[in-house]
Parts: sequence; C-alpha cells; structure tokens
Amino acid sequence: MKALSRRTLLAALAASLVAPARAAAPRVAGEPPGASEPDQGPGAPQFGAEVPYVQTPMPVVDAMLGIAGARPGDRLIDLGSGDGRLVIEAARRYGVPGLGVDLDPNLVALSRERARAAGVEALVRFVVGDLFDTDLADATLVTLYLLPEVNLALRPRLLRLAPGTRVVSHDWDMGDWEPDRSLIVAAPNKPVGLRRESAVHLWVIPALLAGDWRGRLAGEPDALLTVRIAQRYQALQLSWRLDGSPPSALPRSGTVQARATGDVAQLVMPGPAGPVRMQLRLRSGRLEAELVTAAGLRHPALLQAV
Ligand SMILES: C[S@@+](CC[C@H](N)C(=O)[O-])C[C@H]1O[C@@H](n2cnc3c(N)ncnc32)[C@H](O)[C@@H]1O
Repeated sequence: MKALSRRTLLAALAASLVAPARAAAPRVAGEPPGASEPDQGPGAPQFGAEVPYVQTPMPVVDAMLGIAGARPGDRLIDLGSGDGRLVIEAARRYGVPGLGVDLDPNLVALSRERARAAGVEALVRFVVGDLFDTDLADATLVTLYLLPEVNLALRPRLLRLAPGTRVVSHDWDMGDWEPDRSLIVAAPNKPVGLRRESAVHLWVIPALLAGDWRGRLAGEPDALLTVRIAQRYQALQLSWRLDGSPPSALPRSGTVQARATGDVAQLVMPGPAGPVRMQLRLRSGRLEAELVTAAGLRHPALLQAV
C-alpha cells in the first residue's frame, strides 16, 4: 500500500470523523433531478489531489457489490480505484468486466499485478486518469470511495447516466439526493475513523418521469387517463384523472406519493372496489401504464407526453 503522507492521513482521519449519514435537506417536488446543479464538467483538478488513498476493507467491498446486486452483464467503473480491489472482486466473483481509474500510476500498476494474480486480467482494465475526465456512459454500476464534496461534484454527471444504473458509495452520501438503500457494515480492520464500521449507500438512477402524460385505456375507447408527475430525484408526486366512462373499479382521480426505481414506478391508489395498483414504465419516450384492480383485472394504457 502506498505510504500515507501526514497531510493525506490527516485528511483521511478528518474525513472519516464527519458523520457519514448527514441529515438530508428537504426535497422540493417538481424539480427535475439535478436541474439546478452546475456541472463540474471534465477536469476538476481542485479535487484531484485531495482524495487520500484509503482501502475499502474487504467486508465492505463484499457489501458494496452485494447491495448493488452485481451480476454478469454489468459493467463496473470504480472512480479512484486504489489497489483495484472493487474491480477485481467484481470480476472474480460475478464475472463483471470493470474499469478502474486512479491518478496514482503506482496504484494502477499494483492493480494490474493484482488482477493478473487473481486471474481476471482479461476482464478488467486499469488506467491512470482523473475521475472527473472519465466517461461513465457505458457503466451499469459505479463505485465510489471518495469524499463528500467529491460525491457532490460528481452528482450531476451521475444523475445523467442511463436510468437503472446503480451507484454505490462507501461512507459518503450525496447530500439531499437520498440513497435508495443504506447499510452499516462491521469493518474491524478499517484503517481510518474511530468506529470500526462503514456506511454503504446505493442509488438507482431514476428516469425523468416528470410531466403531463395522457392516453386511453386499452379496450376502453371512452376512458382517458391523464397523469401529472412532479419529481425530485426518485421521489414522485403523481396526480391522475380518468375521464369518460372508465371501468367502475377504477378511481376517477387522486394524488399519491411514489418512488421511481430506474425507469419504473409502482404505486397503489385507493379505488371504489379496493386498492388499485399502478405500474408506470418509461419506454422510448412514452409511459407504459398498467392499472390492476383488486379483482386482478388489468387495464394497460400507453401515455404520451402532453
Ligand atoms: C479512498 S481511496 C479508494 C480506493 C479504492 N476505490 C477502494 O475503495 O479501496 C481513493 C482513491 O482515489 C484516488 N484519487 C484521488 N483523486 C482522484 C482523481 N481526481 N482521479 C482519479 N483518482 C483519484 C486516490 O489515488 C485513491 O487511490
């Protein structure tokens, strides 16, 4: 492991003492994800040298890949990849091809050696580079062990990744963009911090579902569904109206809170004959809706943006 300088060690210790789960600011429904955030753009060298090298303990590596549901078919990018452990473990255990990017050429050389020793050199790639210049478009899974302000600087770029892409961060959150899941992992050999444990946070990039949508229920030419969605990250406020002569088990109007998971949102609306489940999926710019009554009757509809 690269020796830590006094400065980086102090930075690491200071960083580790900041409460990992900071209180989230209140959300404002209606603002699209990341709408008001300036993009740091490629090359933000002000952070370049500020993230110290601290290894993620192996139990935390396991937890990060586990919470992300790493699987064959994924493409992993670890930003600031250190000795390559996240990339190598994902390849070794799950057959996931990966890219590790680190500013430090010695760590990149060490990662290549470790990948060879683990027999996964054909699946992984390690490059010397700045994480702010790294093209993330191809990733289905991005892992981070950086610092809070670096996570925040990356946030606008992460929010523009394909819906469903997972982002996992060791210890640090993303400000008011709440994780979809978090857990605390015992880390007896953690080299920094007073508590021998780590926080692991998962975000699933939400599709932009916000807007007004309208379409007819299939097989019900006189039932027009209108949906208005306000969105803040994954949090949705959904108002709907059914005009014309819809099936009697469906509610005519209402408002519910829901969450987007990637390009899908599922919610339950109270109906005259029991709860009605609605699933929405964004596909090719249209919203596929399906309403399922308490009796199990399905009413699909294809909604267009209006
Ligand atoms: C806390 S370590 C994490 C290492 C590894 N991902 C892990 O979890 O074990 C952060 C790493 O980021 C690297 N780093 C710092 N700033 C960077 C930058 N701007 N671009 C790429 N790597 C950077 C450091 O060299 C260090 O190896």
